[in-house]
Amino acid sequence: MSEILQKIRSRTATVAVIGLGYVGLSVAVEAARANYRVYGIDIDENKTEQLQRGKSYVTDIKDEDIDSLIHQRLYAVHEFSVLAEADIIIICLPTPLNINKDPDVSMIRSAVDSIIRYVSRDTLIILESTTYPGTTEELIKNVIEVKTQLEVGKDIFVCYSPERVDPGNHKFNVKNTPKILGGITEICANLGIQFYRSFLENVIPVSSTAAAEMVKLLENTFRSVNIALVNELTLMCDRMGINIWEVIDAASTKPFGYIPFFPGPGIGGHCIPIDPTYLSWRAKKFGFYNKFIELASDINSNMPRYVISQITDILNDNEKPLKNSNIICIGMAYKKDVNDMRESPALEVFRLLQQKGAIVTYYDPLIPWFIDNGHRISSIELLPDLIASADLVVITTDHSTIDYQFIAEHAALLYDTKNVTRSIKGNVVLLGGHKRFEKSSSPDVSIQDNGEGREGID
Ligand SMILES: NC(=O)c1ccc[n+]([C@@H]2O[C@H](COP(=O)([O-])OP(=O)(O)OC[C@H]3O[C@@H](n4cnc5c(N)ncnc54)[C@H](O)[C@@H]3O)[C@@H](O)[C@H]2O)c1
Repeated sequence: MSEILQKIRSRTATVAVIGLGYVGLSVAVEAARANYRVYGIDIDENKTEQLQRGKSYVTDIKDEDIDSLIHQRLYAVHEFSVLAEADIIIICLPTPLNINKDPDVSMIRSAVDSIIRYVSRDTLIILESTTYPGTTEELIKNVIEVKTQLEVGKDIFVCYSPERVDPGNHKFNVKNTPKILGGITEICANLGIQFYRSFLENVIPVSSTAAAEMVKLLENTFRSVNIALVNELTLMCDRMGINIWEVIDAASTKPFGYIPFFPGPGIGGHCIPIDPTYLSWRAKKFGFYNKFIELASDINSNMPRYVISQITDILNDNEKPLKNSNIICIGMAYKKDVNDMRESPALEVFRLLQQKGAIVTYYDPLIPWFIDNGHRISSIELLPDLIASADLVVITTDHSTIDYQFIAEHAALLYDTKNVTRSIKGNVVLLGGHKRFEKSSSPDVSIQDNGEGREGID
């Protein structure tokens, strides 16, 4: 039995997680809970310092979770030298787009440089960042083999395993979401499978690292395309005077062959707006052009502007210009129940309103403040007078802790892009629901909304 396998079985393997963001911190905590000694490495000293004090900055991880592990089995550091002690290294670094909207894998490259400096034989390296098919082979296997004397599959082992964590999801977490894994060789894959099976409920092997990379991109492209479809149908239904939400609810009663996706002010988060672009960029290198991906991206990224055009119409109908109108945006996060604003369509709506001369404020219980263009912008307090004095209140994120009844009671005019006011009476205009669907007069349809298709989930 190989040394590393023995260490996995006896839980004496030391794990290093590079990048302690949403993904890395969740994996590090789960591995530490399974009794591994875990080093979490992050260049952001603010994060490592918070963790060292037993504090979490990720909404799904509680302070108690960190407090019970830190300095005992979990160590938050910013020195890469701890990699010398690691038997298993997991890379959970951001994979954004660069200024030209092409994949930026520079952080993976720099992590590999650090790994090469400290790595020794019998180490398992796993990439978890979302990326294009071929990355693990090109940026990890090939580089390690060229720059060290180690042969992958014999001296050292390399796998790819996409993270599928869905922030804010109370049912599925890192532990109970099936984990896909592909290895560079069969031995690599077997070690990766043994490692994840030692602390996760279900590990699903695929035949290669490229297949595992592609799985994640298929999943998020599927979401992007379906959200775009429902967003486009929303624009169409608005034109035709049909309520899209009523249509989706009724279609959702079909027990087979249909998965509900819901419209909204756009898509956000680190994954859905970005991952499909990784795939289409890679496909172009093979002379293949993905029409679905480009079209979905176009439709989804134009939704904030559509919301602005509806806001302009709503104000116009009330004899008010957008310029100098007092508007409150409810929700700034990219999706419900998270404190993450990356690529948030709510932020884009907020900025577009500002650009058009509106006087915009926001309320978000999970985002007390943020910095935009060097300015600190703070969430307002939701006071009845403040709500009543606004020309328009716009619901941009559907956090579950917000009292929408209270808002509807006090707002002179409410524009709801998330259909959270479905059973609330008030002066409400609904995105995709010009002819408002009054539940009381509708046939009784029972909807199983499991959150599937809510834009921004990833
Ligand atoms: N957030 C999600 O819901 C989610 C879900 C599935 C997959 N992913 C993918 O996982 C990867 C990580 O995403 P995330 O959301 O955790 O990102 P994140 O931005 O929350 O965290 C990344 C962390 O890496 C740190 N970092 C940056 N450069 C570093 C370096 N050179 N060395 C060490 N640390 C460094 C940052 O300080 C940050 O704490 C991405 O590829 C993303 O697409 C994210």
